[in-house]
Amino acid sequence: MYTQALNTTEAEDRNLEDAGRAARFQQRIDAEQRIEPNDWMPAAYRKTLTRQISQHAHSEIVGMLPEGNWITRAPTLRRKAALLAKVQDECGHGLYLYAAAETLGSSREELVDQLLSGKAKYSSIFNYPTLTWADIGAIGWLVDGAAIMNQIPLCRCSYGPYARAMIRVCKEESFHQRQGYEIMLTLAKGSAEQKAMAQDALNRWWWPCLMMFGPPDGASQHSDTSTMWKIKRFSNDELRQKFVDATVPQAHYLGLTPPDAELKYNEATGHWDYGTIDWDEFKQVLAGNGPCNRDRLAARLKAHEEGAWVREAAAAYADKRKSKMAA
Ligand SMILES: [Fe+2]
Ligand SMILES: [Fe+2]
Repeated sequence: MYTQALNTTEAEDRNLEDAGRAARFQQRIDAEQRIEPNDWMPAAYRKTLTRQISQHAHSEIVGMLPEGNWITRAPTLRRKAALLAKVQDECGHGLYLYAAAETLGSSREELVDQLLSGKAKYSSIFNYPTLTWADIGAIGWLVDGAAIMNQIPLCRCSYGPYARAMIRVCKEESFHQRQGYEIMLTLAKGSAEQKAMAQDALNRWWWPCLMMFGPPDGASQHSDTSTMWKIKRFSNDELRQKFVDATVPQAHYLGLTPPDAELKYNEATGHWDYGTIDWDEFKQVLAGNGPCNRDRLAARLKAHEEGAWVREAAAAYADKRKSKMAA
């Protein structure tokens, strides 16, 4: 009896302590202080961030595939060098982000396994094919452009390692966006065939890029707590609107037309109104039924298996160094 009563009191004490910690944690967030890996944090905050950062890392890594596909076919040496640098940057982004996720207590192996087993998600956009060279322009301009809209607010995310990783990532993304736009500009000012190729790429990438911001406000299951914890600073629809507003004039400058008959400048709001997004298509791609889901995962698996010797060699070298230092 006595022991039980004591336990109850201890449990109550612990609950009170946790409530106090949770309140102090929220106060720090409200005061715009950064949360660092060794600080106390609610389990749900850790879980949300691990999910978001690892999905982001997977997206960077899978995102190398559609463009890597064009490295050998880039039309000039200059284009090839820029594309190589860009794809390499994406790999670096993946690595910073896995490292940031590791500070929350999950190992990189665990996170990579989740990707390879199909358990973890990555951005739906990378399940679309790159059919022509203009797609490389459209990806840089639109996909990296949308990524910038999403990621600039993340530089102020409450979790320190994620926010700091994003600062460098965003600088590199802006180079990617410009190299893509410059490809589009060259095609749009080129022959009739080149301009048609640029328009066709815009037609195919426009809607999937609008889907990159995620489901419409109110339909997303993670938004409320992410906003409270200052992981998310703008809603999906706010970010989507910012992207549309920034991108439509860029398309017009190219002499191209986004494939949306309802796209119209709204004098009253100062924004571009756009048509209805096909959310069924988005759901299908997320469910694994996009045009390239299976190819992407198969390519990642193959690369992972073929890279096994590199991981083994690195681990063997690390073990050797450790035993040398101990001796
Ligand atoms: Fe990136
Ligand atoms: Fe990028």
